[in-house]
Amino acid sequence: MQVIILPTPKDVALHAANKVVDVIIKKTRPVLGLATGSTPIALYNELVCRHQAGRLSFKSIRTFNLDEYIGIDEDHKQSYRSFMNRYLFDLVDIDLTNTHVPAATSLDPDVLNHNAVLYDAKISAAGGIDLQILGIGTNGHIGFNEPTSSFSSRTRIKTLSESTIAANKRFFMADEFQPYLAITMGIGTILESREILLMATGKEKASAVKDMIEGPLSSMCPASILQQHEKAIIILDEEAASSLTLKEYYLWCETKRQQLHKGNCV
Ligand code: F6R
Repeated sequence: MQVIILPTPKDVALHAANKVVDVIIKKTRPVLGLATGSTPIALYNELVCRHQAGRLSFKSIRTFNLDEYIGIDEDHKQSYRSFMNRYLFDLVDIDLTNTHVPAATSLDPDVLNHNAVLYDAKISAAGGIDLQILGIGTNGHIGFNEPTSSFSSRTRIKTLSESTIAANKRFFMADEFQPYLAITMGIGTILESREILLMATGKEKASAVKDMIEGPLSSMCPASILQQHEKAIIILDEEAASSLTLKEYYLWCETKRQQLHKGNCV
């Protein structure tokens, strides 16, 4: 794991945007794995700014989102398809047919299961994910892989935990139906990505971040499995990093890594 600690959420978004652009530049037809939620919004804003400034095109990019709610329509304001259209896809030159979000509008479990299996097949057919963007839940979830999810799980239907439902309540109106089921990429699916970039900001993520980076590998903190990924970059702001025991070491490693890149290591 490469742990990068930066002063503010804005710095986290800028650093993440640079990483996304690096991957886009190096590949002819890049495949990005995308997340929703509050954390990546600043990253998407930055990517949109770079696009509007003529510095970045999404024409060759294919995307796969982590998850989608079951029980609301695609055009519902809180569906993850709507979220992605609103914050990224409608604002850049991406071909919408190259964007994928799990198909979760059916209420028939057989159809949903079939869609989930098909989703993994589509990712494979696209050649796999080059860079997967992740956030982390306060309970350590990645995608909607809640605590006790199998580390080898595939894309499937998941029941959301009470803490996730409570955390996401803020997006729904008081009298509105709030989904408690979703289709999510499995942990096994996520781990097949060639690179992973997880962002976390804010004090409320500090405990999950500590469990992810310094805790034991445990399905009680699904994100802890990222310790086993060859190329996982974790970008944190000061608050999200505030409970880390080895915080000074991670900061020191980054300083030394940058010196090495500048050819200045002795
Ligand atoms: C989003 C997702 C979730 C979020 C996580 C953090 O597609 O799969 O795992 O990344 O719940 O959400 P925020 O960023 O809102 O704190």
